[in-house]
Amino acid sequence: MTAVELIRRKRDGGELSTEAIRSFIRGVADGSLPDYQASAMLMAITWRGLTPRELGDWTEAMLRSGEVLDLHDLPGVKPGLVVDKHSTGGVGDKVSLCLAPLVAACGVRVPMIAGRGLGHTGGTIDKLEAIPGFRTDLSRARFKEVLAEVGCCVIGQTDWIAPADRRLYALRDVTGTVESIPLIAASIMSKKLAEGLSGLVLDVKVGGGAFMKDRDAALELARTLVGIGGRTGLPTRAVLTAMDQPLGRAVGNALEVLEAWEVLCGAGPDDVRELTLVLGAEMLALAGMGTAAEAQVELVDALRDGRARRKFLEMVRAQGGDASAIPDGLPRTGATEEVCAAADGFIVGIDAELVGEAAVALGAGRRAVADRVDPAVGIVLDRKVGAPVRRGDRLCAIHVQDGSNPLEAKAKVSAAFHLGPTPIAALPLVLGRV
Ligand code: URA
Repeated sequence: MTAVELIRRKRDGGELSTEAIRSFIRGVADGSLPDYQASAMLMAITWRGLTPRELGDWTEAMLRSGEVLDLHDLPGVKPGLVVDKHSTGGVGDKVSLCLAPLVAACGVRVPMIAGRGLGHTGGTIDKLEAIPGFRTDLSRARFKEVLAEVGCCVIGQTDWIAPADRRLYALRDVTGTVESIPLIAASIMSKKLAEGLSGLVLDVKVGGGAFMKDRDAALELARTLVGIGGRTGLPTRAVLTAMDQPLGRAVGNALEVLEAWEVLCGAGPDDVRELTLVLGAEMLALAGMGTAAEAQVELVDALRDGRARRKFLEMVRAQGGDASAIPDGLPRTGATEEVCAAADGFIVGIDAELVGEAAVALGAGRRAVADRVDPAVGIVLDRKVGAPVRRGDRLCAIHVQDGSNPLEAKAKVSAAFHLGPTPIAALPLVLGRV
């Protein structure tokens, strides 16, 4: 069947054969399939979904589009001690930046393949690339070297690992085809199954700033992801976590690196620190390093005694980054704009999706595949949900380039803050586990 026939079949609710899926993904990976046909198929899948058999075949074909790492011969790598974490996407979610070095500092290898910004959510790769010189496109040999020497390494999808996801991910970002459970599941699991892991922890985001807006949808995604892990023999756990307001205070690439650095130094916002510890404890527990409670003690020690932040700097150096730029030499804008409270009251909501869209409007994310992100721009929230405010108090600072016109971002951020006359209770961060 031709590509057009396959797209039509999916569009009309039909099922794709294993061979059809393999040949479609081959065309995605080797570039012979044009963007418009790949995008049309993504939209058809977003509407029609994939059957469990199709999802298995689609994930497998994406996984096999590149190499599957075998880390058994790697010096210092003990079987069972290679664990990763992946988030389904949030606003202000810089946890991977804290978690990879923290968990590595506790003796577990973390070979992380991460993504760029997707839709209104930020991406670990764009954030790390805000560090001058930081390379996320390492060769297989260098990736393994860094993993052996440092204990953690974070790269993006490349032409040698997960190339089909590299292309589909970039197309989904700009074609309104992100919010699809099978596409998210295949994207995440094809990367993670390529890493040669012994365990995987998934942070499945739920709420207005997530791709899954309610708990039922998030549970379905979590079960789909854990199910793929189970069928392929990879021990996988999912934690459902709240994404109703941005995580932490900073949204934007360099601003988030700075905030992650603060957490690694034992400070930073409580919610980022809490989530880092919760997910880190799951990772250590999966590696067989005691119960989640025992693991938390080990993680807190690694933050307190400086091992985690030293590991982060080691990773930055090993990946070509300028460690002396952290924290004071990170890219910064020349100007900031303020958004202030229009009345007295309490913050009863901060629409994370609008804040994420504002960051994209500033240039922190992409609207077309070829867009370059601006590492310096972004938003820093002064107050979060539950805080009291007086009329005229600053709610957030918008970091903008000199001479730019942030009207769209400012309007979105202003609309994101909801004030009410009475305080609301602090929102729980962890909502469930699968
Ligand atoms: N993370 C991914 O890698 N892919 C998605 O589709 C969503 C989050």
